[in-house]
Amino acid sequence: MKYTTTHLVYYSPTRTSAQIAEHIARGTGFVHMIESDLTYDPTSSPISIQDELAIFAVPVYAGRVAPVARERLSRLEGSHTPAIIAVVYGNRHYEDALIELRDLAISRGFVPIAAGTFIGEHSYSRPEMPVAAGRPDQADCEQAEFFGKQAVEKLAKLTVLDETALLAVPGNIPYKEVKPSTPAAPVTRKELCTACGLCIELCPTSAIRFDQDGEIETDPVLCTKCCACVKECPNQARVFDTPYTAMLHANFSARREPEIFL
Ligand SMILES: Cc1cc2nc3c(=O)[nH]c(=O)nc-3n(C[C@H](O)[C@H](O)[C@H](O)COP(=O)(O)O)c2cc1C
Ligand code: SF4
Ligand code: SF4
Repeated sequence: MKYTTTHLVYYSPTRTSAQIAEHIARGTGFVHMIESDLTYDPTSSPISIQDELAIFAVPVYAGRVAPVARERLSRLEGSHTPAIIAVVYGNRHYEDALIELRDLAISRGFVPIAAGTFIGEHSYSRPEMPVAAGRPDQADCEQAEFFGKQAVEKLAKLTVLDETALLAVPGNIPYKEVKPSTPAAPVTRKELCTACGLCIELCPTSAIRFDQDGEIETDPVLCTKCCACVKECPNQARVFDTPYTAMLHANFSARREPEIFL
């Protein structure tokens, strides 16, 4: 089968995974592109990908595929469809997320032909304590494009598309245990908030709303701590104060580089 279209599927609250997916797609050289952005689509209708080259990109949360991404990826339906898979992490480590994404893809009917790990600005990064600030940068995007090119070259050489050539990627089985996370959410600095409502629109899990006094309130049980509201608030009115920021800044500031597996 000759493929001419990429089908991007991503979950990306702070848009780093989306950027990587787009650069991988650019590198394939395919003219046609379909995008399924699962960040703002909590519906459960199936997404069938049969005749396109799939590209999946998701963030790493606690060394695993981000839970909401995992849940939303279950809508995908492939039929021995080739897939390029990528996880994006905040310069600490991706641990078992890549192998988990590989297995998820296979379980949904896809054949992962190429895998990559990329670095995105950490959700908890702050100007005064940066962690991978500004990434993916130009070098990362160029590497993502080169990865897309290499994946297509590999695809052209494959004669059969099945799981017999299981792509080897780092990670453990069983995967790292998912520990229950303590409910918490960013707070709003009322003096800076203009009640523009942007954070309500951007929250992937609908955790934010106006209360009866017209002030922003956040449900900590629904909040995934993705920090999209913190990064996008035009008035810097949202703050997520976590001790992890200082820990990450102190221990994981040394630049890590993308890795690819073909
Ligand atoms: C709850 C949570 C857990 C995270 N866990 C990790 C991790 O284990 N390792 C890591 O390097 N980055 C971790 N990150 C950072 C994200 O993987 C990183 O910022 C990524 O670029 C976010 O992707 P997005 O921009 O597509 O939303 C975590 C972020 C959040 C919000
Ligand atoms: S985006 Fe910022 S200013 Fe707008 S409603 Fe949310 S917290 Fe307030
Ligand atoms: S309220 Fe929580 S889940 Fe919603 S955008 Fe902010 S950090 Fe993300």
